[in-house]
Amino acid sequence: MEKFAVLTSGGDAPGMNACIRAVVRSAARYKVGVEGVRDGYKGLLENDFVKLSPRSVANILQRGGTFLGTSRCDEMKTSAGIEKAIQVLRQRNIGGLILIGGDGTFRGGTALAQQGRDVKIVGIPGSIDNDIYGTDYSIGFDTALNTALDAIDKIRDTAGASGRTFFVEVMGRKRGFIALDVGIAAGAENILIPEIETRIDELACDIRNSLKRGKKSHIVVVAEGDDAGGVFPIAQQVWERLRLNYRVCVLGHVQRGGMPTARDRILAGKLGSAAVDALVAGETEYMVGEINGAIRLTPLRETWEKQKELDSNLLKLIKVLAV
Ligand code: F6P
Repeated sequence: MEKFAVLTSGGDAPGMNACIRAVVRSAARYKVGVEGVRDGYKGLLENDFVKLSPRSVANILQRGGTFLGTSRCDEMKTSAGIEKAIQVLRQRNIGGLILIGGDGTFRGGTALAQQGRDVKIVGIPGSIDNDIYGTDYSIGFDTALNTALDAIDKIRDTAGASGRTFFVEVMGRKRGFIALDVGIAAGAENILIPEIETRIDELACDIRNSLKRGKKSHIVVVAEGDDAGGVFPIAQQVWERLRLNYRVCVLGHVQRGGMPTARDRILAGKLGSAAVDALVAGETEYMVGEINGAIRLTPLRETWEKQKELDSNLLKLIKVLAV
C-alpha cells in the first residue's frame, strides 16, 4: 500500500490540526496510509514518526497549535540535512510528503524535491502571516486577524476613555498583511508596515491633526517588521515631538493561538484534501492554494521566490477612512 507522511513546520498556525485531519481522512479515501512526523523537519531528521488514522485525528479540528509539534530547523538548510531527510523517507518507504507551513518550510521542500526525486512533495500554506505567494489566504491568517481585532477593539475602549494614543504591534516579521487587514477592520488611524517607508514626522502630524479634529483616541497599528525599527522606538520618537499621552501594546504570540475560525477550518479541509489529490495524481514540487475560490497548484519554488502583493485597494483606504 502506498504511504504518505505529513508534517507541520515553522511558526504554528490555528487550523494546522484541521489540516492534518483533512490529509489523513482524504488519504483514507484512496486507501493510502499516513504517518505524522513529530516536530517538523527536526523529527524528520530524527526519524520520529507516528502512525495516523481517521480515528486518531478525531476531535482535533477545533484545537489551535499543531498536535504533531513544529520546529525551526537549521540543519534542513544544509545539503547534508536534506540528504539525511531523504534517506529517512526512503527507509520508511514514504512515497509522498505533505508539508504544512510557510516560506521557510517550502524552501526546505524545494531542496528535498530536487535532491530526492523519488519522493513526491506537496506544500500547504499554513502561516498566520499570509505572506505566501500562490494563495489568497494561508491557514491561520483569519484566526490571527480576528484575535488581533478583538484585542484592538478592547484597546479602543480604554484609549477612548482616557484620551490616549495607542501604538499596537502585531505580528509580521517581513510583511504587513496582518497589520493592514486588522488596521482597516479596527478603524486604526495609522497602519505602519514594512512595505511602506515610515516617516515619523508625518505620523506625528497625523496624530496632532486627529486630536485637533476632536478624536478621543488614536490607534497606530505597527507591523512587527516595520522599517522604523519597532513599536517602542516609534512611540518614543512621536512622544519627543508631541509630548502626548500614549501607551504601547505588543499583541505577540497571542495571535498564534486559539480555536481556528470557521474560515480557517474550511480552508484547511479544502487544501488538505487537495494536497492528497495532487500527490495521488502524481504531482510533485507544488503548493496547493486557493485563488479566487479555486484550488491552484503553484510550483513550490515560486511560493518563496515570488513576492505576494498587498491589496492596493486596502492601502488606499487607510487615509480615506481615518478622517
Ligand atoms: O509564524 C510567523 C510568525 O508569527 C511571525 O509573524 C513572527 O515574527 C514569528 O512567527 C515569530 O516566531 P517565533 O515564535 O519563532 O519567535
